[in-house]
Amino acid sequence: MQHALPSYLNPDDVGPWGTYLKQVDRVTPYLGSLARWVETLKRPKRILIVDVPIEMDDGSIAHFEGYRVQHNLSRGPGKGGVRFHQDVTLSEVMALSAWMSVKNAAVNVPYGGAKGGIRVDPRKLSKGELERLTRRYTSEIGLLIGPSKDIPAPDVNTNGQIMAWMMDTYSMNTGATATGVVTGKPVDLGGSLGRVEATGRGVFTVGVEAAKLTGLPVEGARVAVQGFGNVGGTAGKLFADAGAKVVAVQDHTGTIYNASGLDVAALLEHVRTQGGVGGFAGAESMANDDFWGVGCDILIPAALEGQITKDNAHRIQAKLVIEGANGPTTPEADDILNDKGVLVLPDVIANAGGVTVSYFEWVQDFSSFFWSEDEINARLVRIMQEAFASIWQVAQENKVSLRTATFIVACKRILHAREMRGLYP
Ligand SMILES: NC(=O)c1ccc[n+]([C@@H]2O[C@H](COP(=O)([O-])OP(=O)(O)OC[C@H]3O[C@@H](n4cnc5c(N)ncnc54)[C@H](O)[C@@H]3O)[C@@H](O)[C@H]2O)c1
Repeated sequence: MQHALPSYLNPDDVGPWGTYLKQVDRVTPYLGSLARWVETLKRPKRILIVDVPIEMDDGSIAHFEGYRVQHNLSRGPGKGGVRFHQDVTLSEVMALSAWMSVKNAAVNVPYGGAKGGIRVDPRKLSKGELERLTRRYTSEIGLLIGPSKDIPAPDVNTNGQIMAWMMDTYSMNTGATATGVVTGKPVDLGGSLGRVEATGRGVFTVGVEAAKLTGLPVEGARVAVQGFGNVGGTAGKLFADAGAKVVAVQDHTGTIYNASGLDVAALLEHVRTQGGVGGFAGAESMANDDFWGVGCDILIPAALEGQITKDNAHRIQAKLVIEGANGPTTPEADDILNDKGVLVLPDVIANAGGVTVSYFEWVQDFSSFFWSEDEINARLVRIMQEAFASIWQVAQENKVSLRTATFIVACKRILHAREMRGLYP
């Protein structure tokens, strides 16, 4: 029978969720007796699709499509960001929620995986419209979220202000201030020091570990970064501070290049005031497509998924690709990079620093006792280094990529929890 919508169990033609399903198939042979439970990973536990209507400033009514997906809750409450982007789809939110399950298990924080999103270009909204959108969306997904049920956080185009509105809306609806319902909040509202930089710091930490293991000196290394927002901007700065040269940066406003290394502090300020890297004085501009062939040692995709594909993977010159973004490499491109001997540090470990410090924020909110930034950064670095070391070992033992190794470690933890809990009823 012909169906208008494909089944979500079909890896072909279902977008990023299809990429995730193929990754699960790759790990299944390594799961031993836990493979009996693998279907659990292929079916999100819960999907909520919501209509988000708001009154626009001109008096018209606009409707937006919103999602919250809880992929797996075997190890704890759902945890994952909220994305505001004009290209958000259910397939994308499903994949992002599943990668959160894997990521949370990979760094062993006690969470399941979840993700949310609204299909909207927030740059086209006024501040008032953005607030009304955020509050209505939060109310609509209110039946799923909560400090011990599912805890959203920032993702693409969402930030501390949006988390503050989400926290306030949830608190108003439940009648008590609930700081622990979201993470990535402003520090004055129960946010954690170090959270804003945490994902980029994690990217840098695993990058340095991999560089050590492969004999690539960070000092003097040429770095190219796609996406210069929260993740790419922080990672770029930390690599520059460590003596690397950030030679190329691409974002939604264009691509810039400087063979002797960009002034990263000045570039961050330019992005803050101008909204993107385009027009930065200390660099020449480059055709967007040429970014992938740029001469570099380390490439950090830190924008959106599906960026490194079979069409551009063969042009990549880097020795190390560190996935700051979620799902930036398609499975076909992964194979091409592997065949070329390019080491890929996969998203499910490389960008886990954000959720690790989100976990610290949640713990601090519950105990109402806040830690120093040095303490937070030291704990973050230790967790990332230890998680990366054990994944590296599993990759060596099984002769598999770091992505498959991360999936082996994480999926075993998730399915072991599933098995011990047993099926209800
Ligand atoms: N923020 C976090 O804590 C966190 C944690 C884990 C993973 N991530 C992932 O990292 C990625 C970036 O998230 P962020 O929080 O830095 O978002 P952000 O909104 O701060 O920055 C996104 C960046 O991507 C760029 N971009 C958007 N469309 C682009 C395009 N078509 N081509 C090139 N660049 C483009 C934007 O210009 C911007 O520089 C996403 O994949 C997100 O899921 C974020």
